[in-house]
Amino acid sequence: MISEKMAKALNEQINKEIYSAYLYVGMAAYAASMALGGISNWFQLQAREELGHASKLMHYLNEQGKDLVLKAIAAPDQKFTSVAGLFDKTLEHEKEVTASIHNLVTLAKKEADYATEIFLQWFVTEQIEEEASVSDIIQKLEIGGKGGNAILVLDKALALRK
Ligand SMILES: [Fe+2]
Ligand SMILES: [Fe+2]
Repeated sequence: MISEKMAKALNEQINKEIYSAYLYVGMAAYAASMALGGISNWFQLQAREELGHASKLMHYLNEQGKDLVLKAIAAPDQKFTSVAGLFDKTLEHEKEVTASIHNLVTLAKKEADYATEIFLQWFVTEQIEEEASVSDIIQKLEIGGKGGNAILVLDKALALRK
């Protein structure tokens, strides 16, 4: 059995994961409005992945006999000014999520909650992948000079994500 404090912290993380999905849905819509179907596809799949993260946490709470407590999901900022900016914002956001996961691990360690600590390892590893994949896109855009052609090449590449 995990502590009430840990259950509350995991519930807050569920909210953050669903917020992430919401943020990426907004970005997918922005890309679609710019006729960038490939980039839109990447963000839509990213959004779906975030809901998967939330589901993993919900399942764990249930396994530990704790209630799911759903709170309002904040509306993300939808004022995007450039396609490159979407990825900068995504990296910034994922760094915040990484910090949040690390805080959960710190709490688990403090509480000698070995089960949650082990459960969270998957998320620690996932965040490495999340940051790396977005950093890779940002680097490629920089190599391409962030101009129209670089965006179109990226759009083609991201259309392949399944
Ligand atoms: Fe996530
Ligand atoms: Fe991922």
